[in-house]
Amino acid sequence: MSNDALTHPTDALAIGHALTEAATTAGYAPSIHNTQPWRWRLAGHTLDLFTDRGRVLAVTDPGARLATLSCGVALHHARMSLAAQGWRVTTTRMPEPADPDHLGRLRIDGRTAAVDQLAALHLRAIPLRHTDRRPVTGEPVEPQKLQAITAAVIAEDTWLHTLTSDQVLELASAADHAQRTEADESAWQDELAYWTGGTRSAGTGIPDAAIPGRATQTTVPGRDFGHHGDLPISAGHDKTAAFVMLYGRSDEPRDWLRAGEALSAGWLTATERGVSVLPHSAPIEVVGTRQAMRVILASAGYPYLVLRLSTIDPAAAGPPRAPRLAADQIIEQS
Ligand SMILES: Cc1cc2nc3c(=O)[nH]c(=O)nc-3n(C[C@H](O)[C@H](O)[C@H](O)COP(=O)(O)O)c2cc1C
Repeated sequence: MSNDALTHPTDALAIGHALTEAATTAGYAPSIHNTQPWRWRLAGHTLDLFTDRGRVLAVTDPGARLATLSCGVALHHARMSLAAQGWRVTTTRMPEPADPDHLGRLRIDGRTAAVDQLAALHLRAIPLRHTDRRPVTGEPVEPQKLQAITAAVIAEDTWLHTLTSDQVLELASAADHAQRTEADESAWQDELAYWTGGTRSAGTGIPDAAIPGRATQTTVPGRDFGHHGDLPISAGHDKTAAFVMLYGRSDEPRDWLRAGEALSAGWLTATERGVSVLPHSAPIEVVGTRQAMRVILASAGYPYLVLRLSTIDPAAAGPPRAPRLAADQIIEQS
């Protein structure tokens, strides 16, 4: 079907349905503190993605780098939804240079000859993917799984560096320093307290059920939420985990958006292979430790996010789903 042919009322209905479905699927995306800092506008053949400034963390993320990265994950989820449904789509990133909050546009151009099988696989993994803050209990991640995750990231124009054991110690020290810096600032703590804990019925934030019930034994400290949650944890450690860093050639909003798309591709690939993912963003949030992450990369690029990749006993009950905003709170129809 050509673009011109997409004028029949039945097509318009099918396209509207597909775009609504794509934006709804994108709602499953992970985001910093589960802020879900995205807003979608649907009109005709197009679906536009915007940063929702009301859900950007003013203290933790003043430049909106982690919000933009989170929106990039949502953009990739939406792309996978459309590709898996057999739609041919043009993706434009930063379509309006005068509006930095306008992050992307997906335009349906027609049908594809065949369904994209990788997208179909990713679409099935989207509702299964989740953040797991439990200690690591399993074997090290197999090299071929790490290679598949790296290849998925590279396919989205971002790079993935696997830290050596010495670099993991440097990361541990940076993460510790970042946590202490954040703990010393009341504005930082207030923002963290606003978005985490409790039962979170409003559809955003991290519930206590997803926060470890006591301190975990780790080399690299996980996020200090300022209180313990209700997530039961074992006595495991993070010794068998792999720590990887998403990075790229420059440090602009477009790079953060692409890094988010790469995070989605890598995390869905990990989910499909039974590899658990835990983002560590504190060392990126604090300027000094972000610089230390850059030194680890030997100035080969700019760091966007650190991830812990591991195997966690799938038989042990995992964390419950973090809440999400309803579709009508994130999608505008015009
Ligand atoms: C950019 C980004 C940074 C994140 N940083 C952290 C972090 O430092 N520590 C942590 O425990 N979780 C972190 N997360 C995970 C989010 O808290 C999680 O995605 C969110 O609560 C939704 O839960 P879900 O991933 O289980 O759907 C991060 C996620 C993203 C996308």
